[in-house]
Amino acid sequence: MRLGLLTGGGDCPGLNAVIRAVVHRCIKAYGGSVVGFRHGWRGILQSEVEDLDLKKVSGILPRGGTILGTSRTNPYKEPGGEARIRQELTGRGIEALITVGGEDTLGVAAKLHDAGIPLVGVPKTIDNDVNGTDHTFGFDTALSIATEAIDRLHTTAESHDRVIVVEVMGRHAGWIALESGVAGGADMILIPEYPVSVAEVCDAVRRRHDRGKNFSIIVVAEGARLLDQNAPVQVQSERTDAFGHARLGGIGATLAERIEQGTGFECRYSVLGHIQRGGTPSAFDRFLASRFGVAAVDLAHRKGFGRMVAARGTKIVDVPLREALGSLKTVDSESYELAKAFFS
Ligand code: F6P
Repeated sequence: MRLGLLTGGGDCPGLNAVIRAVVHRCIKAYGGSVVGFRHGWRGILQSEVEDLDLKKVSGILPRGGTILGTSRTNPYKEPGGEARIRQELTGRGIEALITVGGEDTLGVAAKLHDAGIPLVGVPKTIDNDVNGTDHTFGFDTALSIATEAIDRLHTTAESHDRVIVVEVMGRHAGWIALESGVAGGADMILIPEYPVSVAEVCDAVRRRHDRGKNFSIIVVAEGARLLDQNAPVQVQSERTDAFGHARLGGIGATLAERIEQGTGFECRYSVLGHIQRGGTPSAFDRFLASRFGVAAVDLAHRKGFGRMVAARGTKIVDVPLREALGSLKTVDSESYELAKAFFS
């Protein structure tokens, strides 16, 4: 069996664990070989390849990022993209392509499958917002980083009697904000799914101060918007990537300023940004990514094309790629109600 492998979209901790698992499984269980494409779809379009063997993947398990590199290249925005991909895979004798990515990469994979290209998917993203799977790897690591940051910000907020706003990642789904906010004891959490007004945030801060606490921590997802703000979400730049996404950011600064104006309490903000995506993956993410990698090779071997490996309860299963697409797995009302139980 000769497999192709690529990692696309934003990187996340655990990608190297998948790469390693795919190589081990393909070579040891099936006597096959693996061709890695560099920088996601760009590598197939531009013939940027490298053969992956056991030596190449030795020592990469605890490393963040992806040894293959990644990009947000969209082959459907490139001239003759689909045909070039077909040609490249056929020319290299690749029987199946394993595509590791989030909604954008898997969306491209689904289209290519419809066009008859044999491939399987592996879901990844720190946002944990891919439908069809209980978990994506990368999320657990990002969550730990965000929670540790909140713990650290607590001590300085308390020392200075300040309100500190922590902006975390989460374009459409507020899972990182919600779970790190609850785990870190935030006094309010703002996420894209449940917009609130500045007045509500200020009231929460005041209530806490009335109870004798002179500091507060507010966690906000980058994709959250304020009810009384005109713009739907705050962006750093209007320029969009090949999948139409603008670069988000700025809500933390805005919120800190508005809370200071509204309450008179001194405020600061901290943007965690790509720190959440970097560095060594947690044991949970390494294990999940390893299981996904092995399952993806087995799926390709039994020609389960057009499907994606997924975590369901304690099992790894596979589901149609289409199940992961169309809508994102956003924060449900039950989870949000749980978080609200701890708001000030
Ligand atoms: O891939 C998910 C994500 O981390 C989002 O949470 C965030 O909005 C986006 O990627 C940032 O992308 P980039 O690395 O291109 O700035």
